[in-house]
Amino acid sequence: MSLMTDSSPWRLEWKDGLSVYIPEIDAEHREFIRLINGLNEAIIGRMDVEIVKKCMHAILDDAIRHFAHEEDLFREWGYPETDEHAIKHIQVVQALNEIMGHFERGGVEYEWIEAGLKVKEALIQHLLKEDMKYRDYYLALRARPDAA
Ligand SMILES: [Fe+2]
Ligand SMILES: [Fe+2]
Repeated sequence: MSLMTDSSPWRLEWKDGLSVYIPEIDAEHREFIRLINGLNEAIIGRMDVEIVKKCMHAILDDAIRHFAHEEDLFREWGYPETDEHAIKHIQVVQALNEIMGHFERGGVEYEWIEAGLKVKEALIQHLLKEDMKYRDYYLALRARPDAA
C-alpha cells in the first residue's frame, strides 16, 4: 500500500486501511503522519537546520511514547507476539537515533533529504508491517463471544 499522494511524493496521507480499529492508537498514528509531513516540509522548504532538528526530535519523542502505549495494550490483551513487537520498537528507535546522530554531526543538504526519507521509511514500514499484525489479533479477540 502506498501512502504517497499524487500532489507530492513527499506527503503522506492517512487512509482508512491504516486503521487498527483502536481510536486512541489511530490518533497517535495520524499524529506520526502529521509530524513526518512537518519534517518533510521543513526539509523541502529549506528551513533552518534547528527547525529540522526540532521536527526530528519531536518524532523520536512521540515514537517512544507511542511504542510504550502499544506495549501496554499488548500486555493487557495477552498478545503472544509482545516480545517480538517490542524488539521491533527498539530497532526503530535505534534506527531513528542513528539517523539523527549522523545528521547532527554534519548535514549537508542531500543528507537532510536522505535522513528525512529514512525517518519516514522506518516509521511507515513499522506501521504497515508490524502494527497490522496486532490489528488482526485485536479484531479476532474482540470478535470472540466472551469478549467484553
Ligand atoms: Fe504503532
Ligand atoms: Fe508498533
